[in-house]
Amino acid sequence: MKVLVVGGGGREHVLAHKLNQSPLVKEIFAIPGNDAMTAVAEVHSEIAETNHEAIVAFAKDHQINWVIIGPEQPLTEGLADKLHSEDIKVFGPNQAAAQIEGSKLFAKQLMAKYDIPTAEYKEITNKQSAIDYIQTCEYPVVLKKDGLAAGKGVIIANNYDEALAGIEELYPEEEGIVVFEQFLEGEEFSLMTFVNGDYAVPFDCIAQDHKRAYDNDQGPNTGGMGAYCPVPHIGQDILQQTNDTIAQPIANALVNEGYQFFGVLYIGAIITAEGPKVIEFNARFGDPEAQVLLTRMESDLMQHIIDLDNKQPLHFKWKDDAVVGVMLASKGYPGSYDKGEKVSGFNLDGSYFVSGLKKEDNAFVTSGGRVILALGEGVDIATAKSNAYKAVDQIESDALFYRTDISDKAMK
Ligand code: AMP
Ligand code: GLY
Repeated sequence: MKVLVVGGGGREHVLAHKLNQSPLVKEIFAIPGNDAMTAVAEVHSEIAETNHEAIVAFAKDHQINWVIIGPEQPLTEGLADKLHSEDIKVFGPNQAAAQIEGSKLFAKQLMAKYDIPTAEYKEITNKQSAIDYIQTCEYPVVLKKDGLAAGKGVIIANNYDEALAGIEELYPEEEGIVVFEQFLEGEEFSLMTFVNGDYAVPFDCIAQDHKRAYDNDQGPNTGGMGAYCPVPHIGQDILQQTNDTIAQPIANALVNEGYQFFGVLYIGAIITAEGPKVIEFNARFGDPEAQVLLTRMESDLMQHIIDLDNKQPLHFKWKDDAVVGVMLASKGYPGSYDKGEKVSGFNLDGSYFVSGLKKEDNAFVTSGGRVILALGEGVDIATAKSNAYKAVDQIESDALFYRTDISDKAMK
């Protein structure tokens, strides 16, 4: 089979790496990919992720059997629909179904209608009403811009002044949709669920991301600064509850409302006193959750995608070892940062996945905020963590920073 991976980050790097191990997959292409993916895929960086016509033409010319779309933007912009219209198979939802990630309001309304546990919310469509609202609301309050924001459109305001500053940021104009949400207290986890219509198969291994930039969950929200799996202190009962009250009901709700979701639905959940509740849905694999989950996955990802397509049972198999991944990011991220800084010392044998590096004169230099995820495996989380930080230590660069407490929640 010939497979095309769309996207150029660490998630797509691990997807290509994992698919390359499948006996079902003969050739892998990546658009736009990145320079670290050339060991596992034919990389076509000359085609932009946003150039849907060129991607469809490429898939036709190369007789691609499956296109796997990694990032949210091409999904919410309808790349899957364009590929479907040429009878090309796609792992990743169509534009209508991808709204579950693309619009916070869409997701909230769907959850409200189908009684899926989540924070209470209020939709506010202009700046003045928002200012009025924060005079009476309870604190902390969570402000979420409606639309994609690369993990950075969420503000947690502890008081009126912070909420006012948040409003200034999220309403550049008088009109605009912001969801104001009740603040939930608890531990977060990420559950990937394979979904084909009402056939929903959650991974039986969850992961935990680290969204804040600095140690002890301090600093601004990012796309994710590290992840690990499994999460031993979040047990089978929570997983079962999440499946019963969130994963299967949301798949049914989408079908009931006429949406055809095919791909991976990312459930970002928080464990409250009332049980797990939804923080967010994504219409794709998490990044960096994909890097640790697919590293731990022993079974064949391509086979799982085919089985999902045919609504056949999926038999996930996981390594006994735990996996910890530490993100190295450009100093300054998620704010502004320099590019073009040299990074070396890493290998490309599956211990590192690259998000933001490109080759210049035969050396890798930074090209993005999140740069490279260093992974470690081990018999338990502590060993995996220690190995992950050994991998971090191999990296030579003055331009990067990272958290030192990835996976510590599992060891408290
Ligand atoms: P999101 O982009 O919706 O995942 O939000 C980013 C991060 O903000 C989440 O991972 C949470 O840590 C935090 N967050 C979002 N919504 C809430 C909420 N209702 N209560 C508490 N924390 C939240
Ligand atoms: N790691 C969080 C996300 O992919 O949205």
